[in-house]
Formats: sequence, structure tokens, C-alpha cells
Amino acid sequence: MDKINIETSNNLSGTVKISGSKNASLPILAATVLWGSQYKIKNVPEISDVYTMLELIKQLGGSFEFNKNVVEINTEKISSYEAPYELVKTMRASVLVWGALLGRFGKARISFPGGCAIGDRPIDEHIKAFESLGYKTVVKQGYLETKKMAKTGGSYEFNIKSVTGSENVIIASILADNKTELCNCSIEPEVADLINFLKLLGADIKNIEDKVLISPVTRLNPKNKIYSIIPDRIEAGTFAVLGAIPGNNIKIINCDTEHLKLPLNIIEACGSDLKIKKNEMQVIGGELKPFNIETKPYPGFPTDLQAQFMVLAILAKGRSKFLENIFPSRFIHAAELRKLGADINVERGLANIKGVPFINGGKMQASDLRASASLVIAACTARGKSEISRVYHLDRGYEKIDYKLTEVGVKIWRTKE
Ligand code: EPZ
Repeated sequence: MDKINIETSNNLSGTVKISGSKNASLPILAATVLWGSQYKIKNVPEISDVYTMLELIKQLGGSFEFNKNVVEINTEKISSYEAPYELVKTMRASVLVWGALLGRFGKARISFPGGCAIGDRPIDEHIKAFESLGYKTVVKQGYLETKKMAKTGGSYEFNIKSVTGSENVIIASILADNKTELCNCSIEPEVADLINFLKLLGADIKNIEDKVLISPVTRLNPKNKIYSIIPDRIEAGTFAVLGAIPGNNIKIINCDTEHLKLPLNIIEACGSDLKIKKNEMQVIGGELKPFNIETKPYPGFPTDLQAQFMVLAILAKGRSKFLENIFPSRFIHAAELRKLGADINVERGLANIKGVPFINGGKMQASDLRASASLVIAACTARGKSEISRVYHLDRGYEKIDYKLTEVGVKIWRTKE
């Protein structure tokens, strides 16, 4: 396994070009399983989670080519309806083929996705939603076996906003027997991107706030259509945090600042000078002031930026409070940041942070994708050298991260663990 070495890197400056969204690419790639055809999708990030999804589609019987961020997929020959343990354990988001397999075959066998470093990751909402739309799920030998039991379609109100739960059910309903009405759906930009992709293929979907109304169609028509994935708002937010470190001045292009309103308000409030246009922004770090965060479903503060923002809080002049409502145990990064001298007290779901004037480099271990990004940002501003092990977590969701960091002046190199 690789580890990342970072020498203290201050006064960073330069331009970062944001890649396509991981969390829009995964449901859109999964949706190609729904209807056997040929698809062409652009601005797909070359990250390991995308390769895992493509490998899953290949194991189902599909084929793909992936060059220079363009994916060409052929799902005509898909005959299997099983998402195997080996792939689901690698990436929970493999469950996104569940809805597509139900929509295509009326059945699916999905390895039960486990929890992960950020906490228990239940899928009861997926199961309940499918049940209300005419399917039944039983658990056998660690697999979820779902079958069509009646005419599909109907209505379901989610008890909790679930991004992949909403995405799974939307995909499953496109070719259903009857209309489907979903309430309390997630409205993240990535869900909207999936809906736009499906509409391009001919799906009949109306989405008004957190309501999604789907009138069934009997076929989709992907041929000669090219879809381009939205920019990754979490990657853009991650680099905005790096720019907010005092002394740094980073230009971020190919992003959509509309998707980052609340995080950028906090970046500005905690001391940065921010110049914002629709698809680019300049972040000039200033003396850090403390701030409070409460993670919520979109358009609230995204849980996927909580770890990164903690680096700003540990260096701010005063006390900050982070309330993690989505994944209450998503504070593993706090223990690693303490190794650098951060003053963070964590109870379940709540982190109290007291800013310190500086942090020192040290040895850290990545635990999940976004926590590893937080450790990288901390290592850039820490005094001396830092090492971060298990960086495969980082490569799951950040395309060419070493190159992008080097471009703004970070002294970063990889070595074998
Ligand atoms: C998606 O995960 C994202 N992953 C996550 O990003 C993101 O952190 C999360 O949404 C929240 O925004 C992808 O899009 C591939 P949820 P998902 O279902 O869909 C509870 C990253 O780093 N819940 O929206 O698995 C759950 O416990 C990843 O890119 C149920 O109770 O999350 C949580 O409290 C990490 N029952 C809340 O809902 C269910 O059936 C939101 O979870 C499903 C979820």
C-alpha cells in the first residue's frame, strides 16, 4: 500500500481544475444497467470507485471503454442480476445497481452492504421503498434477494432523506407498470444529475423540490446521446478549504459554485477573501475565525465536507462546534488531527474544537475518503513533515490529487508502506 508524504507547504497558489462528480457518476453508470444499449458519458473522473462500478457492470455482462474521462458502455448483453460480495464490500455504492436490476429483470441479488468507517450504513429505506412499489426482499446467506411480487409502481414517502435510496428507487421506477410518486427524496445535485440523465434517455420524470413523479415508459433511447457529469462539489469544497488556510491563494475552475452556497458562506465568514463566479472561484485565506457547523441533507451543510472544514476550526482563534447529524460517528479524523496538536473533544455526534496557533507534522492513518482529504490539508499547513498511510481511501474519490496539489505548490510524494 502507498503512503503519502507531505512537507509543510505554506503560501500555496495556483489553479485547480475540478473533475466530474464521483457521486453523480456512480448512480448514472449504474442506471445504464436498466436498459440494454450503448451509452456515452463525459467528464467521468478516473478514480477507483468508478472503476469498481465499471467492473461490476462488466461482471453483470456489460462491457466498457474508459479513456480521457469519457466512458462508453454497452449493457445489451447483461444477463446476471447479482452484485457479488467482493465488489459490494469494496464499495457500498455498488448497491446502486439494485434499482436498475429490478427495473430490468424484476429481481436482484445484492450482497448486504456493511457499515464503514463513518458509521452504520443502513438500507432499510431502500427495502421499504421497493416494497411499497411491488417488490419483496428477503435476506439469505448475507444477500438481499428482491423479487417483483405485483404490478410495480405506487407511492412512497422516505422516513429519512437517503441519497442512494432515492436514486435506487427512481431508477427502478422508470420502466415500472404504473406511475410512481416519491416524497421526501434527497435533492442533492447528484440526484438531480441522475434525473437529468434519465430524462435525456426519454424517462418521464417530474421533480419538484423533494417530490419525484415518474410516469412509466416502455423503452429508453440512449443511442447517439452524450451526457456530461456535473463537477464534483465535494472536491471543489475540499480545495476551497485548502485555499482558506492563511497565506494560501487558490483559483478553482470547472466547478459549480451554486452547489456550494453554504460551505462558501462559512469559508468567507471564517476569514477568507472569496471571489465567486458561476463556474470558478478564487479563495484567499485570512486569519481564521471560529465557526459552527451542523451537517444536514442538501442544501444544508454537506457531511462530506465536515472533516475538511475541521482543519480550519482547529487553527481558528477561538472555539468551534461541529454537529454531525447525518453520520454521528464520522469523527475518526479528529483522533488523527489530535496527533498534530489539535484540541478536539468528541462526544457522539458533537465535536468541540478549541483553536491552536499551529499544528506539527506527524504520522497519520486515513480511514475514509473525506477524512483522508482532511489529513492532507492538515499536513500541508503543519510544521515539518507528515506521513499519511492507507491513502487508497483518497484515490477512491479524488482524481489526480497529487498532481493537483503539486500544481499549487504542495511538497507531496508517495512511498511504499
Ligand atoms: C451518499 O451515501 C453519499 N454516497 C455519501 O458520500 C454521503 O455522505 C451521503 O450520501 C450523505 O450525503 C454516494 O452518493 C455514493 P444516505 P448514502 O442514504 O446514500 C440514513 C462520499 O464520501 N439511512 O443519504 O449511503 C443513514 O444512516 C460518501 O462520497 C437510513 O437510515 O447515504 C444516514 O444517517 C460517503 N436508512 C442518512 O440516512 C437507509 O436505508 C443519509 O444516508 C439509508 C440511509
